[in-house]
Amino acid sequence: MDNDNSQSSNRAHWSSTFGFIMAAAGSAVGLGNLWKFPYLVGQNGGSAFIVIYALLLVFIGVPLVIAEITIGRFGQLNPVGSYGLISPKLKWVGAMGLVTGFILLSFYPVVGGWIIYYLYHSFVSFGENPDYAQIFANYTSNPTYPIITLFIFSVMNYLIVALGVEKGIEKYSKIMMPALLIILLIVTFRTLSLDGSWEGVKFIFHPDFSKVNGKTILVAVGQVFFSLSLGMGAMLTYGSYLSKKDNLFKSSISIPIIDTLVALLATIAIMPAVFAFKFEPTAGPALIFITLPAVFAKMPMGFFISIIFFTLMLFAALTSSISMLEGLVSYITDKGHMKRFGATTLVSIIIFLLGIPCSLSFGLLSHINIFPGKSIFDSMDFIASNILMPFGGIMLAICVGWIWDGGLRYETIIVRNQKGNPDVVTNGYVFNSCLKEITNQGTLNFPFMSAWIFIIKWVAPLVVLAIFIDNL
Ligand code: PHE
Repeated sequence: MDNDNSQSSNRAHWSSTFGFIMAAAGSAVGLGNLWKFPYLVGQNGGSAFIVIYALLLVFIGVPLVIAEITIGRFGQLNPVGSYGLISPKLKWVGAMGLVTGFILLSFYPVVGGWIIYYLYHSFVSFGENPDYAQIFANYTSNPTYPIITLFIFSVMNYLIVALGVEKGIEKYSKIMMPALLIILLIVTFRTLSLDGSWEGVKFIFHPDFSKVNGKTILVAVGQVFFSLSLGMGAMLTYGSYLSKKDNLFKSSISIPIIDTLVALLATIAIMPAVFAFKFEPTAGPALIFITLPAVFAKMPMGFFISIIFFTLMLFAALTSSISMLEGLVSYITDKGHMKRFGATTLVSIIIFLLGIPCSLSFGLLSHINIFPGKSIFDSMDFIASNILMPFGGIMLAICVGWIWDGGLRYETIIVRNQKGNPDVVTNGYVFNSCLKEITNQGTLNFPFMSAWIFIIKWVAPLVVLAIFIDNL
């Protein structure tokens, strides 16, 4: 029997809208915001990059977040089941999301492990005059220690998800996300009070459009998808735990708002400190693990700032990785083959094993390239972030815009009088299942509806497709 769609009436739900927002914003806020975004700003022309990112976010990211959450709340099922309810032919789109989840979980927790190592070393000094680049290279290329920290991170990830939607994911997101925001504010104030930090603020907000080219836009789109956890079913799964009474539009748009605020704050917290101590702002991926520890070492009270900063990184990484895991677990539990505990255990073991080659690709396996010039770790990141997630986004837009319940469409409705002559002629959008879901059966207002429909049908699929093709 096909039971992807076996809807169980006792399916878990968020205990409050706030709980949903913290969990979903927790999914969005992650290494993408704290690690990637600041260095992308540093490398791609400061606020020129911020402007491009913001445009893509508003015109593509936000509408797609709404679309993805809508499918989940409509289906009240995992990605495969929910897409299957739209059309049985679309189950593969959900399945592709699950595959993306496995790939993301093969490398993301490896970085989570590094964070644990740096958190540990915030307490235990690296010694006199350490060479931070060497420390990072030594650690990541070591064949055992990074696997131990990967294991610790994976256990934390496992425990939270095993505890369930309300008692695990929601509860811990409601603790970790506010803590993260407070810590980020403290670090930002510390940075801005450093002598010379103003140069860094100017660097962030001075647009250098000479650094912008086709590649920049490509990078920005990838970042929008990655940062919003879009196109792989994480938002869909979280949406499936939303109650039918919630205001879907309002809850959904708080996610990109929080996500962007955190990314901007993180940039302001990091870049000016880098400037104040005369380090390179364009350091790229090394920024967090090589430049920042050096910055903290020189900063008055740096010891304390380092501890809270890496705690913040850990929280951000965890609330994201639990959302990657939850999609996979919900698929197995919805199918009814296993209970949550067993499903979480099974998936966690598999992803820990997948993480090992990713971790080793910085040392023992560094000679193995899956794509030309890309290590195992980089290849996993590339397949997930640059191929599967944008492709998932295109399919999401096509499903909602064109397939689901006849697609989003405009119709002229003619009401005839008894003699059969046109009485009232109105033009309007057909209130199909999708629009009914967003507006709670027409009882809620859906601001910017026409613009949203236009974007979902035309702008999002075409723009992402163009960039995608260019990318390949
Ligand atoms: N949005 C997360 C980040 O910025 C990454 C993520 C991708 C989380 C996909 C869940 C799903 O780090």
